[in-house]
Amino acid sequence: MTQNQGKHEPLLAVHSVDEFVFGVPDLEVARHFYSSFGLDARDERGALALYTFGHPHRWARIVRADTKRLLWLSLGIYADDLARYEEHLAAQGAERIAPPSGAGTDGLWIQGPDGLAVQLRVAEKSSPSQPSPREFPPESANVGRSPSRSKAQAARPLYLSHILLFSADVDSARRFYEDVMGLRLSDKSGSVIAFMHSPHGSDHHLIALAKSEGLGLHHSSGACLPSTP
Ligand SMILES: [Fe+2]
Repeated sequence: MTQNQGKHEPLLAVHSVDEFVFGVPDLEVARHFYSSFGLDARDERGALALYTFGHPHRWARIVRADTKRLLWLSLGIYADDLARYEEHLAAQGAERIAPPSGAGTDGLWIQGPDGLAVQLRVAEKSSPSQPSPREFPPESANVGRSPSRSKAQAARPLYLSHILLFSADVDSARRFYEDVMGLRLSDKSGSVIAFMHSPHGSDHHLIALAKSEGLGLHHSSGACLPSTP
């Protein structure tokens, strides 16, 4: 830290993917999928709310929609940064939008890449500020690192590590997440894929972008302890 005495200034960046909201035609199919994935899928106001066991944060909501699609993305910022973000968005020429139907009105809503509605909202930092716990079998035990399927224990994700979004223009989307959201590039391959992290601390990537025909949610991923029952 420098002359800022431990404050976040002048760094202005989102610190977490606070929540993503995804529409699907059948919530029961989604419940089976995410429960099998090891998530705590709860009914909340007609939506399926996704939690990790033992963690209070709600990482995502799955809602009914005609087609499977990403509806909006809520990114977490520090309370001290809200006013600064208002100025920053104006300076960047970011388009402010009304909240999508069913979304909260708090925070700042922005038109994101590929037509994605993006919300900046004050939230507790939920992305990891330090590496996740790891546990590997010893390399010298003359056994593979991965157990056989019959011995594999149920996965229990600890937190949301990252999401990977499809984009029709990865370079343009990357510039949005860099210039407007404050994320930083971790790695990329041409204009095909880019991995971005938060300078406030996150895993290798908080958001990744992959070339496709347009917007989509490729996957969400969380860190697990292999031995967690
Ligand atoms: Fe991933």
